[in-house]
Amino acid sequence: MHPPIKKIVLPVAGLGTRFLPATKAIPKEMLPVLDKPLIQYAVEEALEAGIEDIILVTGRNKQVMEDHFDHAYELEKILQEKGKEDALEIARSMLLEEGRISYVRQMRPLGLGHAIWCARKLVNEHPFAVALPDDLIKGKPGALKQMVEAYNELGGNMVATMNVAREDTSKYGVITPGAHSGNRIAVEGLVEKPHPDDAPSTQAVVGRYILQPEVMDHLNKKAVGAGGEIQLTDAMAKLIGSQPFHAIEFEGQRFDCGSKIGWLMANLSFAAEDPAMADQIRQLIKFR
Ligand code: G1P
Repeated sequence: MHPPIKKIVLPVAGLGTRFLPATKAIPKEMLPVLDKPLIQYAVEEALEAGIEDIILVTGRNKQVMEDHFDHAYELEKILQEKGKEDALEIARSMLLEEGRISYVRQMRPLGLGHAIWCARKLVNEHPFAVALPDDLIKGKPGALKQMVEAYNELGGNMVATMNVAREDTSKYGVITPGAHSGNRIAVEGLVEKPHPDDAPSTQAVVGRYILQPEVMDHLNKKAVGAGGEIQLTDAMAKLIGSQPFHAIEFEGQRFDCGSKIGWLMANLSFAAEDPAMADQIRQLIKFR
């Protein structure tokens, strides 16, 4: 029996510069895909995977996310008075029991590894998951559930991966693959944003991880890596060899909602599956 995954760290401190001016006053994690903000997709995916404690690593101007996971008394009262039960239920859908969502601030933008390290006191000695809300994954079951199921058999550390074009390796963490078994790949090496000529494979890490608490010991050293940032990938790479490490080629479609085109495609893809919108969306795509 491997210790269960009950905690998730969601780094949400990024500036969202690629979406300015939309993200001047609202966090990029609050951008909606259809009617739901990105952060809510991530939390729902975690809950589906049986994760109980949600840890958000926030930054300045991110307070609105705390409000999103709290009561909106005025709104709820008005909806109640008007008898709008359906809307009321939606407004209340993200109310977790008090104490299950925690917030910790990353005070300086020093990189993804540093953001995860900021949560070390809340993670404590437990294995934990990480999801990057920008990476929206449409999967049934969700990617985190697929990973937790694999973890329950294999233990250790895990990353979700997908095959990318070789010219794109410099946008991702990339694994050195070992033995394959179904959609599970033993990880023998991990490198952040390699040049296509140097990439050990085209299996790229997308933003879903299961990590052992020892990763924090490596993050503690604050080593600076690719792009001058403290990289999660570098700390994870140090665990290879001393702990099991697997990549899961998840089933589902990933949208890079940190880019405009990825976010737009996510909207179209979700809308095309919504009976109320599908016909109009198909018409639009056909005729424009
Ligand atoms: C981060 C990680 C990278 C991973 C990517 C997935 O990079 O550092 O290893 O492949 O997310 O989206 P970022 O996109 O923040 O530069």
